Amino acid sequence: MRMRRVLAVCVVASLVAAVVSVTGCGNSAAGGGSAVKVAGPSREAIGKYLVQIGGCNDCHTPGAMEGKLPAESEWLTGSPLGFKGPWGTTYAPNLRLKIQPYTEEMFIKTFKARDAKPPMPWASLHAMSNEDLGAVWVYIKSLGQAGQAMPEALPPGVEPRGPYITEAPPTIGTGKAEPK
Ligand code: HEC
Repeated sequence: MRMRRVLAVCVVASLVAAVVSVTGCGNSAAGGGSAVKVAGPSREAIGKYLVQIGGCNDCHTPGAMEGKLPAESEWLTGSPLGFKGPWGTTYAPNLRLKIQPYTEEMFIKTFKARDAKPPMPWASLHAMSNEDLGAVWVYIKSLGQAGQAMPEALPPGVEPRGPYITEAPPTIGTGKAEPK
């Protein structure tokens, strides 16, 4: 009987201690004391999320355009499917290889400004914050090198050897509003 009472007191005491330590923690944080670090998603996870919602796999991953997104190990290895238009034929390159020479700083600086051929949505990269572009770099780097280099872009008038999609909306090819 006595033993039970001692136990009960102990349980109450430790509950009180827990409450005190929680409020104590809050007080010290508010007072600028020991910093309370809240773990958010890693930069890698943020980069992966941006790649997914940015649609990068659609063009830069083989099969994705046909609705067959492969395993993550193959993401961003480029696609041999050409995009043919008034600009010639372009191929979404293997980003896992292309990214290798870039430091994070170089990557951000380059792709905040680069404006090359369609259908790469250059404006989407320009619109990303430095933090977000940096996270995309971290994620692509984390995937490591894989796959092969994709074909080089072809000038207008050259028939591609491999498969391609023709992009010729009516506004294109009239001499007006032609992309660079
Ligand atoms: C609609 C297809 C398409 C989508 C979607 C797309 N890309 Fe591209 N991307 C391309 C093509 C095509 C090129 C090559 C353009 C050229 O040759 O000028 C390219 C080129 C690039 C390059 C330049 C690589 C180099 O150094 O040569 C980077 C970096 C890049 N894309 C990143 C991305 C990222 C990040 C996303 C997602 C936010 C994305 N792309 C979405 C088609 C696409």
